[in-house]
Amino acid sequence: MLLAALGLLAFWLVSAPRPLSADAIPAHTPDLANGEKLYHASGCHSCHLPTAASGIDTALPAGGTPLKTPIGTLYPPNITPDPETGIGQWSDLDFVNAMQQGIGRNGSHLIPAFPYTSYARMKVEDVLDIKGYLATLAPMKNAVPSHEVFALPIVRRGLGAWKWIGFDDGKFKEDPAQSAAWNRGAYLVNGPGHCNECHTPRSLLMTSDMSRFLAGGPHPEGDGKVPSIRNLVGRGKYKNAADLVLAFQNGEILGYEDMSSGGMGKVQANLAKLPEDDLKAIAEYLLSLK
Ligand code: HEC
Ligand code: HEC
Repeated sequence: MLLAALGLLAFWLVSAPRPLSADAIPAHTPDLANGEKLYHASGCHSCHLPTAASGIDTALPAGGTPLKTPIGTLYPPNITPDPETGIGQWSDLDFVNAMQQGIGRNGSHLIPAFPYTSYARMKVEDVLDIKGYLATLAPMKNAVPSHEVFALPIVRRGLGAWKWIGFDDGKFKEDPAQSAAWNRGAYLVNGPGHCNECHTPRSLLMTSDMSRFLAGGPHPEGDGKVPSIRNLVGRGKYKNAADLVLAFQNGEILGYEDMSSGGMGKVQANLAKLPEDDLKAIAEYLLSLK
């Protein structure tokens, strides 16, 4: 009895959400062009788009398209600036807590299908630039359905315990031994791009198995497999960095078939919106992984 009570108490203590406080947020004037670029690099729209049936312009991230996960079907929320059903009333602190700590505005843990585990590595200023860009979009009223997850409040609290092993809020660190482009590519892939979330297999505890970093595995949404993106030239997948950049820019249209299914088509469409320098940087970084 006593042990069980102590166990419960310990669980309750370690699983409590620990949001950042206001002094963690720098004074920053958002760079909207950078925000737009990182919005695409981060794939926000891929998950937060509305359904065609909603009648809302599907180019806007008004939420509600079902996202299948191993724990149930989620409905990514509305992140347009609508004050009631979107994030129009969110402060910078609210936004950074969601994006980089995985803590919602009501203070509870967010489900890591929202890839805050990767976004946590981003510069806070870059995150604020995305918020600035989102604020320029048309506000859309769209109340999305509740997630279909069994015992969701308990799952949310349990995520606090999972975060001790599955979540690191450390920022991306440059490797001074590498070129500026390599570092930019590593930042884009591991921070905003969250390529790891699909391309690295997970352990039984749903944490990324870093011994098989970007080496491919089962698809996190349950169907099929995600290929390795290591050693892409050595394995004869692409001729060189320029070939990989062309694939990112054009995908299926130019016959690059291996970037079309399982969510990668959306990722490729987002990457196609990035400046060529950023794509070259991503290619340089990926091709360095043997
Ligand atoms: C892989 C899918 C996916 C991607 C990519 C994604 N999100 Fe989300 N997002 C979700 C899901 C699912 C939730 C709901 C999480 C929960 O309820 O615990 C969510 C929640 C949020 C929330 C919390 C909103 C609220 O009402 O609590 C914000 C803010 C948010 N996302 C912003 C973004 C931004 C900005 C981006 C791009 C930088 C982004 N998301 C990319 C799936 C995604
Ligand atoms: C939603 C999950 C998901 C995310 C996120 C994702 N990928 Fe993919 N990726 C896939 C899948 C699935 C395929 C295989 C698609 C196919 O065969 O049509 C793929 C294929 C690829 C390929 C082609 C591999 C080959 O063998 O030719 C490359 C390169 C690639 N992804 C790079 C990236 C990069 C870079 C990122 C991050 C910016 C990324 N992916 C993010 C799921 C994802």
